[in-house]
Amino acid sequence: MLEGRRIALGVCGSVAAYKAADLVSKLQQAGALVDVILTERAAEFVRPLTFASLSHRPVYADLWEPTGEAAARHIELGQAAEALIIAPATANTIARLAHGMADDLLTNVALVTSAPLLIAPAMEGHMYTHPATQANLRTLEARGAIIIPPEVGHLASGEVGVGRFPETATLLAHIRRALARTGDLVGRRVVVTAGGTREPIDPVRYVGNHSSGLMGFALAEEARDRGAEVTLIVGAASAPIPFGMTVIHVGSALEMRDAVLKAIAGADALVMAAAVADYRVEHPADHKIKKGSREENADGTLTLHLIPNPDILKEVAASPAAPGLIRVGFAAETHDLAANATGKLHKKKLDMLVANDVTKSGSGFGVETNEVAIYHADGRIEQLALLPKTEVAAAIWDRVAPLLRTR
Ligand code: C5P
Repeated sequence: MLEGRRIALGVCGSVAAYKAADLVSKLQQAGALVDVILTERAAEFVRPLTFASLSHRPVYADLWEPTGEAAARHIELGQAAEALIIAPATANTIARLAHGMADDLLTNVALVTSAPLLIAPAMEGHMYTHPATQANLRTLEARGAIIIPPEVGHLASGEVGVGRFPETATLLAHIRRALARTGDLVGRRVVVTAGGTREPIDPVRYVGNHSSGLMGFALAEEARDRGAEVTLIVGAASAPIPFGMTVIHVGSALEMRDAVLKAIAGADALVMAAAVADYRVEHPADHKIKKGSREENADGTLTLHLIPNPDILKEVAASPAAPGLIRVGFAAETHDLAANATGKLHKKKLDMLVANDVTKSGSGFGVETNEVAIYHADGRIEQLALLPKTEVAAAIWDRVAPLLRTR
């Protein structure tokens, strides 16, 4: 989604200025056209050439340079920008922006542009929490600016406190979300489940599965990037949790069921990519089961009695909470893929079932790719090529978006 998008990046004179270089690099790698604008002080921390080498584009530093070329450029830069992100933003620049000052190229561009303005403050903790800085941030927020809160951690001053510049991934997620304001899921509420459930055996053990959460996370991020308001319900997952959405953590299938039934109220679509355990231990022990304990059989074996979990998708289909909810399920199969997939599509009353053969290489748990077939309620079956999970996610939303328009 960043391919060919014009992003203006303002860099201020904070020690964190060098971290903006990584942001430029990641944006450039994703295909964005990044116009870096340095404040006078920023250029003392990091040389313009560093940014130019990473963005492969000119870097702008001074409105009042002798030829006046940059001065004329603020209009072009402001108008072309699809998002203006100021990262790191210092207390001084935040104050200048709050008061509408136009004393350098960056503040001029900020006044010219109608693109979303994102501000990532990074400064010493007391400067950040000072009522003046906070009031300026609230002023900017009231005008529609998106404030990316600094994190708590080690600051350049040697202290530990609030004011740390966020990770590049966090900044990128905010930029993607700001650009998504025109996506085909704008105004839609979607619920995505991801990861695996853990069915307790006793307080320290569980029955689990190999789900990494990657497919569900890709779906949630793609929906966010297309403008949806996303609720992500996540069980056990090894992949990093995405930003820019409501995240609800659950453990067992029963907890996931409760969370899903609550989240679908008022939602437009539910995509269940979670690996939900079909069975749970009937009576989990309330203490750690030890060798030789009363749970053990006479011959030293241990029997876990498993009972079926409720089928969440079936319950959703029967629930009056979300009439017209588009429902998408996943099926990981090891054999009889087509018969199992068609059976599940009908039994769970789904609009779409995304099926994959987890015995195939490059498909299923823990890998970045997936080879799926999409079974539609109207009987159509589409076989997709082996694709990165991010592209599988895009293909799924490409098919859900038109269905949403018909309901
Ligand atoms: O029946 P099976 O577990 O293969 O179905 C997989 C699909 O059903 C997935 O979308 C999964 O998230 C969902 N599911 C569910 N409730 C269960 C088990 C699976 O909603 N108890």
